[in-house]
Amino acid sequence: MRVGDTVRRPRGRSAPAVDALLRHLEAVGFAGAPRPLGVDERGRQVLSYVPGVAAARPLPAYAVTDEVLADLAALVRRFHDAVEGFVPPPDAVWAGGSYDDAAPELVGHCDITPENVIFDRGRPWALIDFDLARPVTRLFDVATTLRHWAPIADPIDRDPRQRHLDVGARLRLFCDVYGLAAKERRRLLEVSRLRFGRSYVAMRARARTEGGAWARMWEDGAGERIRRAADWLDAYWDELDARLR
Ligand SMILES: Nc1ncnc2c1ncn2[C@@H]1O[C@H](COP(=O)(O)OP(=O)(O)O)[C@@H](O)[C@H]1O
Ligand SMILES: [Mg+2]
Repeated sequence: MRVGDTVRRPRGRSAPAVDALLRHLEAVGFAGAPRPLGVDERGRQVLSYVPGVAAARPLPAYAVTDEVLADLAALVRRFHDAVEGFVPPPDAVWAGGSYDDAAPELVGHCDITPENVIFDRGRPWALIDFDLARPVTRLFDVATTLRHWAPIADPIDRDPRQRHLDVGARLRLFCDVYGLAAKERRRLLEVSRLRFGRSYVAMRARARTEGGAWARMWEDGAGERIRRAADWLDAYWDELDARLR
C-alpha cells in the first residue's frame, strides 16, 4: 500500500535482513532500490516509494525491446557490484528457494521479474521487492532474470509481446552488457536447467507451507509452466548454447 512517499508492506521473516541489505545499497550510493524507513505503527515494513511504473502484464511494447534488456543488464550489474561488499548481519534470515551449487558470491535479488522492475520514461532504473533476496552466485541471479526477460519460457506461456523474440540473441545481449565471464556464460543454460528442477520443488513446498498467494500461484499452474519451460530449454539447448559461445 502506498502512503504518501512511502510504501507499506507486510513484514515477513526476512524483513530485518532485507532492511540491512537496502541500508547497504543506500550507503554505497546505489540509487536503484527503495530506501528502508523502518516499521510503522501497524508493524508493516516502510520503504520509500520508487517513482515510475512497474512493467505489469500484459507487458507494454517498450518492456520487450533490446534497448530495455541492455539497460536491465547494466542495472543488474550495478546492483551486483554494489551488493558484493555487503556483509549480512550474523543472525540474518533469508527467504528459502532454489540455488546454484557453487558457493554464494553475494546476496542476489532472485526475483527480477517485470513486476519488480521500475521504469521511468520507458527505461528500467530500479529494482523493488527484495523479499526473495538470498546468498547466491551472480550467475544464478542472471539466470533468474533471463528466465523472465529473455524469456526462457515456452512460447505458450509467454506474454503476447514476448512470443516472437529471438531468445538466443537476447541471452547473448544480456551477457555482453552485463560482462559475464566466458566461463560463467558457458554455465548459464546448465544453471537455468538446475534452477527449473529446484524451483519446482521449492515453489511446491512454499505453496503447501505458506498458502495464500503462493498456493494460488501453484493452483494456477506455476508448476506446469516451469516444466514446459524446462522442456523448451532442452529442445532449443544446442541453438541457444551456440549463441552464447
Ligand atoms: N517501493 C516501491 N515503490 C514503488 N512502487 C512499489 C514499491 N513497492 C511496491 N510497489 C508497487 O507494488 C507492486 C507490488 O509490490 P511488491 O513489493 O512487488 O510486492 P509483491 O510482488 O510481493 O506483491 C509492485 O509491482 C509495484 O507496482
Ligand atoms: Mg513483486
